[in-house]
Amino acid sequence: MATSAETIQTERQKELAAIIDELEDLNTEAADHSLWIRTRWNLPNQKAWHLGTSERPAPGPYTLGVEYPAAEPHVWKWPQIEKYLMQLVELCPLELTERQSVLLTNPAFGTKGVKVTNTMRIAISIYKKGDVAESHMHTPNASRTIISESGGYTMVEGERIFPRRGDLVFTPNGTWHGHGNDDDTPVIWADTLDWPLADFLGLAWARNDDTVSGHNRQPETDYSAKFYGRGGLRPMFDALPRGEGRKVTPMFLYKRTDIRDALDGMRGHDGDPYEGIIVECVNPVDGEPVFSTLSYRAQLLRPGERTQPKRHTASTIYFVLDGSGHVEVDGKQLPWERSDFFVVPSHRWRHFVNSGSEDVILYSYTDVPLIEKLGHYRAQGVDRTGATVELC
Ligand SMILES: [Fe+2]
Repeated sequence: MATSAETIQTERQKELAAIIDELEDLNTEAADHSLWIRTRWNLPNQKAWHLGTSERPAPGPYTLGVEYPAAEPHVWKWPQIEKYLMQLVELCPLELTERQSVLLTNPAFGTKGVKVTNTMRIAISIYKKGDVAESHMHTPNASRTIISESGGYTMVEGERIFPRRGDLVFTPNGTWHGHGNDDDTPVIWADTLDWPLADFLGLAWARNDDTVSGHNRQPETDYSAKFYGRGGLRPMFDALPRGEGRKVTPMFLYKRTDIRDALDGMRGHDGDPYEGIIVECVNPVDGEPVFSTLSYRAQLLRPGERTQPKRHTASTIYFVLDGSGHVEVDGKQLPWERSDFFVVPSHRWRHFVNSGSEDVILYSYTDVPLIEKLGHYRAQGVDRTGATVELC
């Protein structure tokens, strides 16, 4: 039998439920006037993210009634991507679609925004022999990670680049660039862009009016390597323009062979407990990330290597250049193999395992620089004693 205190409590709950119903009716009416009346006080779970033990922060009160805009962890398997790319090429002539691309979408967003995280988009593009993407420029920062053995060509601000698998080609915001393939075999690469972020901020625009800028000048090859390819030496004059963008790298080609040599040179050391042997592609002039919004990294996980758990307030997309293994995110194992992509959204505990007998090389694209600039970058790890430690 209920006590009188329980009865009073139940009665009060009923009254509150009736008030909420009434408020919701009022809100339906207010919606016609683009207004939302705060109908509930703050939801629980709004504690500081770093004080929780395993869960990411719950949505705040202002996301009531709308989709929670957080990405979910996911792996995109290469055979699946390749299958649809080939079907697209088979079915769809180029005149129907400016580019032949398959875009990765996050299960949390579906096709809304066509994005992997709230900041990044990835399109896997295929160029058959003779295919050309005409010169154009845009405000979002973009890059190409070459997946096929040969990578066609990219022209960026007068520099002609012939990349290979594992090379990174940057076309920073405000650079005129175009692509094509003169090889007999199709070339495939991943375009990574901060387009969703630029779009959200109302900053995304593009142009393809070919009459401006001197981007059709006589092309020069190896400009990036000649001008910026030696660490510690900075050219003190300009030759080719590097675009109208701000706070971006003037070096447009980062070669797999250089990245691999750097990683191999360090492999005898312990490395970072949470990342293994890891390097960042930086602007050779100021040491900053290649873009003000995104950082590009490459890491080596030696056979059998298992990193310590880490979580941070930034999101990261990974491309498996070599090897196989898995990432464990919030206790769930996500296995991956060569050429797969996967995403670890912000706040999720994760660690990597190289479960194969060969080296794993992961490339990653992360919005750490953006989050740092916003003043919200924090990271935590679990050390070898099992203690949670603040990393920054
Ligand atoms: Fe572009």
